Amino acid sequence: MSATSALNIAVFASGNGSNLAAIARAIATGNLPRCRITVVLSNNSKAGALGIAREYGIPALHCSAKQFSSEPDFDHALLQHLRAHDVNFIALAGYMKKIGAPVITKFSNRIVNIHPALLPAFGGKGMYGIHVHEAVIASGAKESGATVHMVDDEYDRGPIVLQRRIALHHNESIATLAARVLAVEHELYPEALRLFAEGRVTVVDHKVIVA
Ligand code: GRF
Repeated sequence: MSATSALNIAVFASGNGSNLAAIARAIATGNLPRCRITVVLSNNSKAGALGIAREYGIPALHCSAKQFSSEPDFDHALLQHLRAHDVNFIALAGYMKKIGAPVITKFSNRIVNIHPALLPAFGGKGMYGIHVHEAVIASGAKESGATVHMVDDEYDRGPIVLQRRIALHHNESIATLAARVLAVEHELYPEALRLFAEGRVTVVDHKVIVA
């Protein structure tokens, strides 16, 4: 797959799907040229993301490791779905399962994730959802934000593509911080995808260079 070809994106999501909605909206309103979401995959049959995909007329599939007798079989099924939908880029948006090595290898430097904090701080195992914002507030940090990063075999450690920071309010609550960071994510994720669609992203020595 060429680094400059249009993005045929698979969005992987396990939850509400508000980032999926932000990306789909950006595409539908012409703000994300050269991008289309060709499939949404969820490991959770009840994920709101599946409903959002259908609202946008995007094929929405439930594919969970529980449906298969082994992880390799699950990875094989994922790769088949990705091939069937002509996918050349994967955007994780609240996907609560580690991506297996076969998918990472096949989509090397073509998988991104969004994280609700300023990596490399407040990332890694257990740092998801509300736990991230709890940890940020407990630490006394004065800033938080969102990070779009490449996905490799280490959790939340892939090269950083884009970050946006916000200042914490005095007496900020977990709920207000979560909502404010999510609003930032909805702008940041389409912006990051635009960089890939424009062929401006390269990875050198584990660092992203934006042309
Ligand atoms: C977002 O906060 C994202 O940073 C994290 O999971 C959450 C997904 O939210 N990885 P949504 O399902 O897109 O609303």
